[in-house]
Formats: sequence, C-alpha cells, structure tokens
Amino acid sequence: MSKRNFILAIITVGLMTGCTSTKKITSSSTTASLKDVYKNDFLIGAALSSQQIEEKEPNAAELVPKEFNAITPENIMKAEIIHPEWDRYNFDLADKIAAYGKKYNMKVNGHTLIWHSQLPAFVRNMKDADSVRQFFTDHITTVASRYDGKITSWDVVNEALEEDGSMRKSIFLTKLGDDYVTEAFRLAQKAAPNTELFYNDYNIEQPKKRAGAISIIKKIQAAGVRIDGVGIQGHWHVGRVPFKDIEESILEYSALGIKVAFTELDIEVLPRNFQGADISQRVASNPELNPYTNGLPDSVQQQLAMDYENLFKLFLKHKDKIDRVTFWGVNDGQSWLNGWPVRGRTNYPLLFDRQFKPKPAYYRVIGLKTKPSEDRKPF
Ligand code: XIL
Repeated sequence: MSKRNFILAIITVGLMTGCTSTKKITSSSTTASLKDVYKNDFLIGAALSSQQIEEKEPNAAELVPKEFNAITPENIMKAEIIHPEWDRYNFDLADKIAAYGKKYNMKVNGHTLIWHSQLPAFVRNMKDADSVRQFFTDHITTVASRYDGKITSWDVVNEALEEDGSMRKSIFLTKLGDDYVTEAFRLAQKAAPNTELFYNDYNIEQPKKRAGAISIIKKIQAAGVRIDGVGIQGHWHVGRVPFKDIEESILEYSALGIKVAFTELDIEVLPRNFQGADISQRVASNPELNPYTNGLPDSVQQQLAMDYENLFKLFLKHKDKIDRVTFWGVNDGQSWLNGWPVRGRTNYPLLFDRQFKPKPAYYRVIGLKTKPSEDRKPF
C-alpha cells in the first residue's frame, strides 16, 4: 500500500467509526452542519437555556448558530417566568431570544402560551373561573401581541391531553370548559396575526392520544379558527422509537392541512418505567437507574446512532410535510433528562456530547445527506 493510500485508508476508517477514536473533532472543525445539509428539507432547531440565550456559554455560542436555524426557549417564555405576578410581566429574556433569532437569522418558536405546568403561583392558587379566564385572556393577548412579527411560531397550547386521548383535567379544562383550546387559538390569532400557531404535546404519535389531538385540531378548524401546525414533542427511548406510529402520525396530521413539527426531540438511554414527558412525574434516585456515569457503552452509543439515523430517514421520506425538527437542548450535559424524572443522572440523549463534540449519531444524521447510501455503515 502506498503512503497516500495508507493515509486515505486511515481517514476512511476514522469516518466510518464516527471519528471517535483517531482525532478529536469538534463541531467547529467539521465542514458540514445540520442546518446546511438539511436546508432544503426542514428547519433544524434546538431548545436554548437562559445562559445560552445570553451567549454566556462560549461553546454553545459558537455551535448554535453554526448547526441550527431554529430556536425555542427551554423555559423563559413559560408563564411562571414571563408573567410572575398578576400585573407584572418579565420580558427581559424573551426579548433576548427574539433578538438572538434576528441576529443569526433563525426562526424562533415561542414556547408556550397555555400549559398547566410551570404556572406562576398566583394562577395555581386561583379558585374562581373568572380569575382564570382573565389570566388566560390577558396572558395570551399580552404575550402573543408583543412578539408578533418578531418570532415565527407559538406553541399556543401545550399538553392538553391525557394518555387515553381525553382532555387533561387541568385548571383550564375545569375552570374554562371543553372549548378552552379553541379559545386560546382564537385569542392568539387575534393578537398575533403574523405568527404560526401550533398545538404541542408528547405521545401524540400514539394512536389513542393521536385521536384526541386530531379531534382538538378538527374542532379548532370547525370553529373557523386558525391552526397552522401540530408539534409532536418526540421524547423517545433508545431501541424503542415508535417509527410506525410516527409515520402514521405524519400522514394523518398533514391530511388535516397543517404542518407537522418535531419540537422537543431527544432519545434517552437510561432506564425508566413509563413513557412520555409529564414533568410532574418523579422517580426516586437509585444507582441502578444511573448506570452510565463513566461513559456510554459502545453498544448503546451505536444503537442511539442507528435510532437517530432511522428517524431522520423517516423525516426525509416525509420532508414535504415536516416543517421543523428541534432537539430539546444543545448537548448531553445540558439536557433536562439528567434531572428528570430521576434527579442527578448522567444521560446521553442528544447529538453533541458534554464537550460539545458531535457524537456518532450526529455523523449518521449528517451522513444521510452527504454520503451515498452504499458508503454508510450498515446496521
Ligand atoms: C422542561 C425543561 O427542559 C426543564 O428545564 C424544566 O425544568 C421542565 O420543563 N415538555 C415540554 C417542555 O413541553 O417545556 C419541558 O421542558 C419538557 C417536557
């Protein structure tokens, strides 16, 4: 073998093994980026923490504009932060994410106007329906109108459904009645005529809950109110990604004439005995539930890479129906799944590791667009 061929062989092996062993490659030293390779397919987004919105994390400050063209605030537009008291709104950080989007030419998805979780205490303690209605109307109108023309879309209502597809018994359902979701969209449409309006939930790829989401969407449409899309959160588990349900969902939701987005994608690798993303559900910590504190075994790393590759293959198959795929976080160290549903775990659900380096899953997702299929590692 000539010296040149030998070097080429080493580079090829390095690429095929996901570049984990030979040379440390940081995202900034790779040429391709997620948003670039998928630019003709769908937007690629990430949820940002407040530190990241303020560009206080140097690694993220460099990586986010390079890899992503859409952002969602992980927490700072939720009611408990943006509207802490009856007469007080706190727009500081929300204004910053709108400015961040403008600076880097990114789409900003507002998350979220109406959600039963992370409500401020003054709402959680409300007893009478009139107060809830007043909060509901003022909140949607004030927040949605402030960002109209400054952000691209809103998750108008988040998680209004139970697992069986019935309406969740939230404060909004019990105080405002069955039509509250339609009313939220009506108010948002009025306050934000230039912003896309989404219904967002987890597990709505699963048949029963999907049926519930479809009936919510049809009800909004039948009332003559605008709904532009549905957000499937996409908090899934390694080795158990529900591909068939996801594909059926893409087809069924888009048949309603709306956009489909994957809004909070992560694939967790740690044990858990329930599915979904109900943030009020907690599990006591226990070392058995935290097996990978010293690193992810290669078999799991490869399964994760394969799941992400198959998922993006499916997304590409239906790219005409998919508007955006947003990861719930930038890197593994920052993921909410280190703290939920069990506190203090070491999780690995995203495409970038704790050092912000791309993982094998990243290369598989990029490879779908940059390598001919016969060059890709078989699985
Ligand atoms: C999570 C955030 O990531 C955490 O930082 C926070 O403590 C709780 O909420 N579904 C949603 C998101 O719609 O807003 C949640 O985000 C995750 C589940």
